[in-house]
Amino acid sequence: MAIPNLRRRLGDDRPKPRLVVAERPRETTISLSEIISAMSFALDLTEDAMQGHALRCCLMGMRIADEIGLPESERTSLYYALLLKDIGCSSNAARMCSIVGGNDRALKAGAKLEDWTKPHRPTASAVKLLWREAVPGKGVFRKAARVLKIGLTQHRNNREMIQLRCDRGAEIMRKLGMGDVAAEAVRGLDEHWDGAGYPEGRKGVDIPLISRICAVAQHLDVFCSERGAPAAMETLRERSGRWFDPDLVEAAETLYRERTLFLDCSPRDDQEITRRAVLQLDPGDHHELPASRIDLICEAFADVVDAKSPFTFRHSMGVAQVAVDIARCLKLPDARVTLIRRAALLHDIGKLSISNAILDKMGHLTRDEWTAIREHPGLTHEILSRIPAFEEVALIAGQHHEKLDGSGYPLHLEAADLSLESRVITLADVYSAMTEGRPYRIGLEPAAALQLLARDVPTQLDKRCFDALVLSVTGDVAHNFTSVVH
Ligand SMILES: [Fe+2]
Ligand SMILES: [Fe+2]
Repeated sequence: MAIPNLRRRLGDDRPKPRLVVAERPRETTISLSEIISAMSFALDLTEDAMQGHALRCCLMGMRIADEIGLPESERTSLYYALLLKDIGCSSNAARMCSIVGGNDRALKAGAKLEDWTKPHRPTASAVKLLWREAVPGKGVFRKAARVLKIGLTQHRNNREMIQLRCDRGAEIMRKLGMGDVAAEAVRGLDEHWDGAGYPEGRKGVDIPLISRICAVAQHLDVFCSERGAPAAMETLRERSGRWFDPDLVEAAETLYRERTLFLDCSPRDDQEITRRAVLQLDPGDHHELPASRIDLICEAFADVVDAKSPFTFRHSMGVAQVAVDIARCLKLPDARVTLIRRAALLHDIGKLSISNAILDKMGHLTRDEWTAIREHPGLTHEILSRIPAFEEVALIAGQHHEKLDGSGYPLHLEAADLSLESRVITLADVYSAMTEGRPYRIGLEPAAALQLLARDVPTQLDKRCFDALVLSVTGDVAHNFTSVVH
């Protein structure tokens, strides 16, 4: 599903914003729910879900929890499990792409509407979905062979895909400090009440209650977004006792009759209204997050981005390290280094909107594929600017493909628009990309990458930053490389 309101903003008529970097860091007060609710938009991208999906799941899931009298002690775990249930999803994108030979995001979004527990009895809509998404552009025989192969291996593939997602999701939840209950809830998201789910085939009350609530909430939003609330309730009833805990279905029925289940969380509602409703339900203490926890969250989302493609494994973490090294060589104050590191960790979060069929493509990209690539910095900016304390992080991260001579994208900013912090991240990104392997080439040695980069200094890349990079990489002054710079 496209994200029209995000993409509309990427039009050419946007004014070029001038960056004004504060002398001192701005107010950094931020609560856990504020940052996680904003970052949940990035997870919606990974699954090609309608924007605000995680927020709506959170609202509905918490209402169901109220209806069944979930103990207060479990509410925090449920709240964050609902917002972060898709945090492991990027880890199976590349594998999904190779299975289908097409767009992983489109297949994931379509599959959510299918009953995939009966591979021996595929529905007409499931076959149609596979036919549309499998090896697009190939001939009928290759398509038919791929669809048949997918059908024959579906059970094994389902288990593999969901195992990857659940294990990774639970791991990142722990890294985020969300605790074992929330982590295990994410692991159990795709288990079914009758034992036909994945990855462990757990059954009934053996499935964590929080997982069961997340599963119902997820289903309600996916179906409501695509087919409306009555259809969502109808499939919920039809799958009660099979996919879903009947007591939770009954609780959802009660709320639906009272007209409170979908309140403020229809896909047509303003997402900021939905988000405010989610923030009001925050069961936490609203305390300001310590800086170390904010860094941990940035690192965890960097992991989510890096897990999307085997070719960008550790790219965000690598860019952050290079950027910090440059910043230290430039002797920037600690607060600016922290700002640069967070922006570097999150710079490619908008890439979650790009199918692996494009990211991992071996050949030349088409015009449409380049358009999709060029949108990702704008999406990064859009997601991060939902966090007021991340205003500068959003601005700098969103400029990581801009160049000093205006040849970058998406806004074609020029030197006067780009702060030192932006220039550091741009250089760190391009240097890291050159030294990493890609589907079409192996990574360059550091010296070879610096030699190539020197040709773009100072026209596209900042000379001070480049000299600092050379110093940090070689431990020496920059004469070897700057000798080619005029
Ligand atoms: Fe990028
Ligand atoms: Fe990047």
